Amino acid sequence: MNGGARERLVRGDPALYDRLAGEWWEPRGVFAVLHWLAAARGALVPPADQAGAVLVDLGCGAGLLAPHLAGKGYAHVGVDLSAAALRLAAAHGVAAVRADVTAVPLADGCADVVVAGEILEHVPDLEGAVAEACRLLRPGGLLVIDTLAATALCRWLAIGVAERIPRIAVRGVHDPALLVDRAALREACAAHGVALELRGIRPSMRDVAAWAVGRRESVRMVPVGTTAVLFQAWGRSADGRATVHGR
Ligand SMILES: C[S@@+](CC[C@H](N)C(=O)[O-])C[C@H]1O[C@@H](n2cnc3c(N)ncnc32)[C@H](O)[C@@H]1O
Repeated sequence: MNGGARERLVRGDPALYDRLAGEWWEPRGVFAVLHWLAAARGALVPPADQAGAVLVDLGCGAGLLAPHLAGKGYAHVGVDLSAAALRLAAAHGVAAVRADVTAVPLADGCADVVVAGEILEHVPDLEGAVAEACRLLRPGGLLVIDTLAATALCRWLAIGVAERIPRIAVRGVHDPALLVDRAALREACAAHGVALELRGIRPSMRDVAAWAVGRRESVRMVPVGTTAVLFQAWGRSADGRATVHGR
């Protein structure tokens, strides 16, 4: 069963992550796509430029980003609502903080990098989450986001299609009303001194085919010419450099 098809479906219910806790670290399980996205997200994080650097991972889940930060020199702090996910994250070296991403009990400017991977499309208060992410960033710190766009194409592909394909998206995981308006995201970040760049990404179809028949363990995310479905975004808080690692 793909995510509890026979249970009453409450779209976007965060309790889903507690129910499916056993799936988090299964590279071929229902959260497989999150593993692929974590690798793509990690590639946007440069090595730390100072000793004691901190990366705050908002909506960290079970800490799937941790292997992709290895050797980069950050203390990895993860914030999430799911106690079960946080226990797994802690077992992967993440300092776990149980909190809502709109009210994080961490100090202003404590983070060299703030990451918000596949979380903003789960949060009813987009502006509140962005304000909190930017509050945590030190001047010049880097914000890295990936999320789903509030478009008809995304609603069709990410919910209508993907939720019908086993292991690609858990049924009911996304509430179409919470998909992220790209202009509103840019505006909210700009209001807090972070100018965002966006790029669309998608899974490599060749890799997906190889993964589906067991010939690959993971799938690479590749750039695509539209940000209308799945996109990454990044920017530095005022006073920072304008580029990220590898770009
Ligand atoms: C799609 S998962 C992404 C997890 C992780 N970032 C990754 O990519 O592997 C969304 C996560 O956000 C958490 N979450 C949802 N709403 C939240 C909120 N308001 N505050 C904190 N965490 C939240 C869920 O518990 C879940 O772990």
